[in-house]
Amino acid sequence: MPQTKKAEAGPIAPGEASSAAAGDAGLAAPGDLVFPADQPAASLKSKDLLGIEYLDADEIRLILDTAHHFKEISKRPIKKVPTLRGKSVINLFFEPSTRTRTSFEIAAKRLSADTQSISASTSAMVKGETLIDTARNIEAMYPDILVIRHAFPGAAHILARTCSAGVINAGDGAHEHPTQALLDALTIRDHKGSIEGLRVLICGDIAHSRVARSNIHCLRKLGATVVVAAPPTFMPCDVESLGVEAFDRLEPALEGADVVMTLRIQLERGGKLSFPSTREYFNLFGLSRDKLALAKDDAIVMHPGPMNRGVEIASDVADGPRSVILDQVSNGIAVRMAVLYLLAGSEAAKKNVETAA
Ligand code: MLT
Repeated sequence: MPQTKKAEAGPIAPGEASSAAAGDAGLAAPGDLVFPADQPAASLKSKDLLGIEYLDADEIRLILDTAHHFKEISKRPIKKVPTLRGKSVINLFFEPSTRTRTSFEIAAKRLSADTQSISASTSAMVKGETLIDTARNIEAMYPDILVIRHAFPGAAHILARTCSAGVINAGDGAHEHPTQALLDALTIRDHKGSIEGLRVLICGDIAHSRVARSNIHCLRKLGATVVVAAPPTFMPCDVESLGVEAFDRLEPALEGADVVMTLRIQLERGGKLSFPSTREYFNLFGLSRDKLALAKDDAIVMHPGPMNRGVEIASDVADGPRSVILDQVSNGIAVRMAVLYLLAGSEAAKKNVETAA
C-alpha cells in the first residue's frame, strides 16, 4: 500500500512513499513507491564499495535484490525518483570509459542526485596534483559519493581512506570492477533464475582483467562453479588460488557451461605482447557459433564491453539469440542505482553516518 508520508529533505528509505515527494518535485506518478514497502531495512557494512572481495554473499544479494526493484524505474515514461535528492555524486574518471561512466551518471540522475563528472584531461592532475590532493579538494566541497576509475590498482582504496564520503570503485587497473560483476550477476540471475550450481566460463585475457577477478569472487560467493580459459600468456600463474578450474583450450572449457563470458584483450594493460596475431587468437579463443555449440543448449553469452568483433567474439554470436550483452548494459543502471542508494540513501546508511558522527 502506498503511504502518503510527506517526504523530508533527506533521501527516501525503503517503504517510504515517493508519491508526495515525487508530486512536489513533479517527478513520478502519484501513488508510485520509490521502493517496495516489504524491502527489509539492511545496509552494506562499509561506507565504500571497493571490490567484491570485501563483500559477503548476503551483501551481494542485498545489492542484487535492491537493483531488481530499481529496474522498473528505467521503464517508466518519467525515469526519475527523488530518492537521493540533495545528495551529490562526483564521478572521477582517470581512464577512458563510455558505458560505466554514462551508467553511473544516469543512475545518479534517475535517483535525483546532483552529479558532476571529472575526467583525466580536465582534472588538475594533468598539472601535477596528486590523487590525494585532488581527493582532499573535492572532499572540501562535501560530496556524498565519489565514483573513481583509475589505472592504478588500489586507487579507490586510497580515496576511501582519505575521504569520509562513500567511495565506489568503477575499475582500478587490473584489480577489481565490482559494479560490473554485480550487473553480470543480476543478468545471469534474470536469465537463469539462480546462480547457485551454475557452471560459468570466463574466457580471454584473464591475467589483465579486473572484470574476471570481480566476477570470480562474485559468482563463487553466490555458489557457481567458475572455470576460466585462456592462452597461458593470458592466465595468471596462481589462478587456481581464486578457486577456479583453468583450461588452456576453449573447447573443453565450454563443455557443460551455462554461461559463457568473453573478455576483451586488455591492450592498455600489456595484453598486446602476449599473442602472435588477432587472427590466431580468434581461431583458438574467439567465441564462434561452432564453439558455442559445445556449451549447454541454453547457455547465455556475455561480454562486459567494449567488444572487439572478430577477435574475442564473432559478430553472429554477439548479436545472436543467446547474447545477453545489452541486458548487461541495462542492468548496469539498476545495479548502480542500488549501490548509490545503499551507500548514500538508505535509512541504515544514514544511521551508520549518525553513529560515526
Ligand atoms: C573495464 O573497464 O574493465 C571494462 O568494463 C571491460 C574492458 O575494458 O574490457
